[in-house]
Amino acid sequence: MKLLAAIILLCAAATASANPFPGGNAQTGKVLFDKYKCNSCHAAMLGGDGSAIFTRANRKVHDAGELIEQIKICSGNVGAHLSAQDEQHLGAYLNRYYNIK
Ligand code: HEC
Repeated sequence: MKLLAAIILLCAAATASANPFPGGNAQTGKVLFDKYKCNSCHAAMLGGDGSAIFTRANRKVHDAGELIEQIKICSGNVGAHLSAQDEQHLGAYLNRYYNIK
């Protein structure tokens, strides 16, 4: 019985700490997003403030790996040299649209 309780506790702890961008801070991500004018192209493509690109029906990103990959591609477009840490920040920020667990 004790063992079962311990297993349940362990599982709960693992779920609670499951964060796809453990090194990221969403607020810092927002600052970077604005600094690099990330939505400038997206807005030109889709209108509005551009964030519709993250919620469009056929969006490309479905998991954390794809999100980091797209952040790399897009930051390359603007010649921004993001650190792995910056990518985590942007991932944490953009996860408000993707809700990746
Ligand atoms: C030079 C223009 C341009 C800039 C600047 C740009 N993007 Fe993009 N972004 C695109 C295009 C084009 C797509 C669509 C790619 C596709 O559909 O294959 C896209 C798509 C994305 C997606 C995927 C959306 C989806 O479908 O799920 C993410 C995430 C993203 N951009 C993040 C960023 C971030 C973060 C920045 C700033 C560092 C940025 N973008 C700056 C052009 C740009």
